[in-house]
Formats: sequence, C-alpha cells, structure tokens
Amino acid sequence: MTKGILLLHGPNLNLLGERQPEVYGSMTLAAINAAVEQHSAAFGVELRSAQSNHEGELIDRLHNAREWADGVVFNPGAFTHTSVALRDAISTIELPVVEVHLSNIHGREAFRHKSLLAGVCLGQVAGFGWHSYILAVDALLRRWDLLRD
Ligand code: DQA
Repeated sequence: MTKGILLLHGPNLNLLGERQPEVYGSMTLAAINAAVEQHSAAFGVELRSAQSNHEGELIDRLHNAREWADGVVFNPGAFTHTSVALRDAISTIELPVVEVHLSNIHGREAFRHKSLLAGVCLGQVAGFGWHSYILAVDALLRRWDLLRD
C-alpha cells in the first residue's frame, strides 16, 4: 500500500530564499518541496506540501491529513514556541508527526529553545538546513520499514 506524507510549513517560510539566508539557507520553498517530493517518490511515497501563515489553517491541514496521510513532516515556524492549539491538533490526529527546523533552534535565542510541540511529535530534526526535511522523511520511511540500514 502506498504511503502518504503531508509536508507542512508554517509562517514566514513562504519567503525562504530571501528570508535571512545566513540562518535559513538560500533555497526557496518551492525548491525544497520539489527535492523532498523527489526523495519520497523514490520510495514510492506520495508527498503533498502546503504552507500557511495562519495558525487555524495549519490546524485544518493537520485535521484533513487524517483523510489521506500516514505521517506528517511539519516545520511550524514561530508557532513551535507558542501554540497550544497546534500541540492539541497533533495529539488529536494520531498520525506520526516529525517536527522540523532548518536552523538549530537550541543554539539560538532562549525563546526558541522551547518547543510546545516536540513532546507530542515522533521526534524533532533541527539544524541541518533544507536537509532537515529529508532526515524527517527518512524517519517516517524507517518507521514504515521502507528504509533499512
Ligand atoms: C524555524 C525556527 C523558528 O524559531 C522560526 O520562528 C522559524 C523557522 C526553522 O526552520 O529554523 O520561522 O522553524
């Protein structure tokens, strides 16, 4: 059976490429989505990507993922550090969610060290630039036994 992954991006990530490239790299969101989709397809996994600057829409996307996805790769942006509502959404959908950050949030300002979401996620990948997303997909692939060794 083919697996499905929702690749979800939160606020300000639509501006990747031009937004603080020294922190977040120079790749655009479209280029990241294409690279992660190609990687997933190589394992027969369907990946659908979405981005929103709005907390409510991100919650709706997570709820909707129950209809078709087997897992979620989620960069919640700044909502990582603030959103009880997103934490509750992740708990509610009962899908494995991998939290992703381009930057190493633990090496930055103190307010970024705390994630309200990580505790209800399968795990967190942070600090590897756009490659963080690939590592997060690999975590799901391994969970599904589609990637070994
Ligand atoms: C981020 C880290 C967050 O602290 C920040 O608010 C972002 C991007 C990252 O990918 O490194 O918007 O999630």
